[in-house]
Amino acid sequence: MTTVSLGMPTPRSAPQVGPVALPSDRPATSGLVDTFGRVATDLRVSLTDRCNLRCTYCMPAEGLPALPKDSVMTREEIVRLVGIATRDLGVRQVRFTGGEPLLRRDLVDIVRDCGALPHRPELSLTTNAVGLESRAGALRDAGLDRVNVSLDTLDPDTFATLARRPFLERTLAGIDAAAAVFDLVKINAVLVRGVNLDHAADLLTWCLGHGFELRFIEQMPLDADHSWDRAAMVTAAEVRDQLGERFVLEPDEEPRDGAPAERFVVRARTGARDRLGRVGIIASVTEPFCADCRRTRLTAEGGVRDCLFAHSETDLLGPLRAGAGDDVLADLWRRAMWGKQAGHGMTDTGFGEGFTQPERTMSTIGG
Ligand code: 5AD
Ligand code: SF4
Repeated sequence: MTTVSLGMPTPRSAPQVGPVALPSDRPATSGLVDTFGRVATDLRVSLTDRCNLRCTYCMPAEGLPALPKDSVMTREEIVRLVGIATRDLGVRQVRFTGGEPLLRRDLVDIVRDCGALPHRPELSLTTNAVGLESRAGALRDAGLDRVNVSLDTLDPDTFATLARRPFLERTLAGIDAAAAVFDLVKINAVLVRGVNLDHAADLLTWCLGHGFELRFIEQMPLDADHSWDRAAMVTAAEVRDQLGERFVLEPDEEPRDGAPAERFVVRARTGARDRLGRVGIIASVTEPFCADCRRTRLTAEGGVRDCLFAHSETDLLGPLRAGAGDDVLADLWRRAMWGKQAGHGMTDTGFGEGFTQPERTMSTIGG
């Protein structure tokens, strides 16, 4: 298997362009199955490692060395791999991530091309919304179905502390523009103790008022500074407590259906307890949903990651550039996913035995 270790400039072995031997115990199915019976139907494609923010839980203050341009997938390469995933591998949903995907000048074209594929997937984008103001309409017209925006606070100073850039206004303008053209805008927030934990209820009030669905994501050890601390991270239980001071949260009756967020109906604390909307909490660390994971990932360099916390990747871009056919690329992808681990291995007290933080940061995986 062509796996590349991360973080070090390892010379790549010759790309596999001929037939791929699949493991003999793998069922003869076309989809992306693994040994635990899970099937990946949800693809996240990182379009770039670059970002215009420097969120403390993701990037170092000085940024990361940019990937050489020619090691990043081109529009045509992305569309070819998404085409294989949707036609041959059973992928139904494709989410574009970064870094910050809006930094790709050809983002609208990538969306349009993927939207024109014969097995058109549902297309979504995770973005910090800086610069979305001028492109939301074009993205919708190109076929984008949904947008998730990262927003951790409505306070400009706290935003500048967390993102290390004073861009709250630009983010809000991007969210406004998205709301004008998309039916549903989701907001992702990461809470950091001592910084924005006590902003959670304000953020929810604002999202409910605008009709946005807010999801809180537990902070995961995917930061460049390796400063994640299990004891200090804000847990899902704490988020529920914080929100419970201002709202009543009731478990949502709708089936979760593999979605990572546990959803709650939000009601007012007072009076007739009016239903105000919904909120989601993604407890990746304290209540992991690995057993129900349906994700496969492509890095901006065209490597398959079977998990956020994987330590190896299967290179598809090398074989693609060396002339591998669609059938070979599909089998390389199938073989990569077959080896997916049961779970990320974090425990109640911190890193489980044998757990080590991957060298890639969230900004180079894409969330
Ligand atoms: N833990 C949890 N979520 C993170 N994100 C970035 N880094 C982390 C982390 N260490 C979130 C961003 C964005 C999504 C892609 O992932 O806020 O919403
Ligand atoms: Fe950029 Fe997103 Fe990482 Fe923030 S979390 S630095 S917006 S990639």
